[in-house]
Amino acid sequence: MSQKKHIPNHVAIIMDGNGRWAKSRNQLRVVGHKAGLKAVRKVVQHASLIGIKALTLYAFSSENWKRPEQEVSSLMSLFVYALNREAKTLHKNNIRLNIIGDISRFSSQLQAMIADVQSMTLNNTGLVLNIAANYGGRWDITHAIKKIIDKVNNNELLIDDLTEDVVGKELSLHELPAVDLVIRTGGEHRISNFLLWQIAYSEFYFTDILWPDFDLNSFDEAISIFNKRERRFGQVVDC
Ligand code: IPE
Ligand code: IPE
Ligand code: MG
Repeated sequence: MSQKKHIPNHVAIIMDGNGRWAKSRNQLRVVGHKAGLKAVRKVVQHASLIGIKALTLYAFSSENWKRPEQEVSSLMSLFVYALNREAKTLHKNNIRLNIIGDISRFSSQLQAMIADVQSMTLNNTGLVLNIAANYGGRWDITHAIKKIIDKVNNNELLIDDLTEDVVGKELSLHELPAVDLVIRTGGEHRISNFLLWQIAYSEFYFTDILWPDFDLNSFDEAISIFNKRERRFGQVVDC
């Protein structure tokens, strides 16, 4: 008898390999990013359907500004296009959209769009979709430290009362279930400054599949592998 699948509460994905996907087809990198957007659409729909509570997608890292200007600007245009096109569908599907990262570096047009979509979907009760844009795990921690220092300076917090819980509450995603599973496509085995604090006890799944080719079967396969893992959280389970 097949065992019932346990659906992870929170899945985070490093969507890597768009450029190589395009290169293998003799196309420009932006063509890979456009194909990547199609994969995002399918994965979001599937996550919502199978009852994942939160999905966090790494779309643009703090370090991705180092790419050629043309690629950065086409990624920004694609972001604007996707927000415009998908906002209503997300809302209709009861999905709450949340952008994590330092959005202050984005154009005022993009910042305004982000604020609009976030407020439109704020009360939705289905999947929480977090898009990490100009996000870095180190930025997240630094940002939290600044907020904590502010609280100490304003006498809202005593240093003696600083616990892991207090720190965690200043970080992105703190209001969501812990990240159960991190998936990275594109064959690299690294974190590339994605979530740091939040993945202390996550399971990792790496696949060579390039992001635009990541489909529902690939997603289900990742969840099946996750189901076979024994999570111990530092304890002894059975010996
Ligand atoms: C990931 O794909 C998307 C972003 C970083 C925006 P890449 O663009 O890194 O694709 P590769 O790794 O060069 O193939
Ligand atoms: C990580 O991919 C960032 C995103 C997927 C948004 P990169 O392609 O930027 O990572 P590195 O440079 O290979 O570490
Ligand atoms: Mg890459």
